[in-house]
Amino acid sequence: MQIISVINQKGGVGKTTTVINLAAGLSQQDKKILVVDLDPQGNATTGLGLSNLGASEDTIYGVLNGTKQISEVIKKTEFKNLDIVTSNVDLSGLEVETAGDSNRAFILKLKLTAYLNNSRGSYDYILIDCPPSLSLLTVMALVSSNSLVVPLQTEFFALEGLTQLMKTIERVKISLNPELNIRGILLTMYDKRNKLSSQVEKEARDYFNEKVYSTVIPRNVRLSEAPSHGMPVLMYDKLCPGSKSYFSFTHEFINQETNMGGVA
Ligand SMILES: Nc1ncnc2c1ncn2[C@@H]1O[C@H](COP(=O)(O)OP(=O)(O)OP(=O)(O)O)[C@@H](O)[C@H]1O
Ligand SMILES: [Mg+2]
Repeated sequence: MQIISVINQKGGVGKTTTVINLAAGLSQQDKKILVVDLDPQGNATTGLGLSNLGASEDTIYGVLNGTKQISEVIKKTEFKNLDIVTSNVDLSGLEVETAGDSNRAFILKLKLTAYLNNSRGSYDYILIDCPPSLSLLTVMALVSSNSLVVPLQTEFFALEGLTQLMKTIERVKISLNPELNIRGILLTMYDKRNKLSSQVEKEARDYFNEKVYSTVIPRNVRLSEAPSHGMPVLMYDKLCPGSKSYFSFTHEFINQETNMGGVA
C-alpha cells in the first residue's frame, strides 16, 4: 500500500486530471484505489461523479476537524475498484480553525495511519489530490505521503514554480517526513505545434533527468470535457489521445515498482 500525492502549487497544471485518470487506469489494472480529495474546490470529487455540495462532515473536512474517521466518509464511485473521500468548500476554513493546534500538520497522517491499521490494507494506492498552494493542506499531504507525482505544464514559467516546491519538499523531508521522495514529474498539456512545449520538455529532462516520465500528456479537448460528465477520460472516450497517454502513464507508473523490486 502506498500513499501518493499529486502536487504542484501552481494552479491548473493538470493535478486533478492526473489523479482522476491515474486512479481510473490503475483501477482497470485491478488495483484498488482510494482517492482523497484534499482541495476545497472539490474538482476530483465532481470529476469522479460525486457531489461537492453535500454535508461537510461526510468529507475530508469532517475527518480533519476531528468529527469523523476515514472509514466513515469513504464513498464508492460508479467505477470498479475506485473509492473516494470527497471534499467541499468548507475545507478552506481548516487552516484558520486549527491555528491553535501545534500538531496540525500531522492530522491527516494520523487519520490515515489509524485507518490503515484497522482496515488491513484493502487499497493498493491512496492518491491525494492537492490544492494549488503551499498551504497547511499541502503540507499535510507531504507529511502523509510515501512519494509524489508532480505534473508540470509545458509552458513558460512552469519550471520557476518548481524551485519553490522543491524547497518545501526538502524542508518537510528534513523535519517531518524523511521517507518522502519524488516518484516522478509528468509533463502535461503538451502541444507539439508549440515550440515552447518542446523547450520546456528539454529543460525539464536536462535538469531532472530520469525523474521525468517518458510519457507526455498532450493537450486534448476530451480531457477537459470528461469532468463535466463526471467520469475519467479513460471511460468517457477511451480511444482519444488523452486516454492513450494516461494509459501509457499508468503502465509506466506501475513499472516503476517492478523496477524498484516492489510488488507491482
Ligand atoms: N492535457 C490536457 N488537455 C486539455 N485540457 C486539460 C488537460 N489537462 C487538464 N486540462 C484541463 O485544464 C484545466 C486544469 O486542469 P486540472 O483541473 O487537472 O488542473 P489542476 O492542477 O488540478 O488545477 P487546480 O490547481 O485548480 O486544482 C481543467 O479544465 C482540465 O479539464
Ligand atoms: Mg485540481
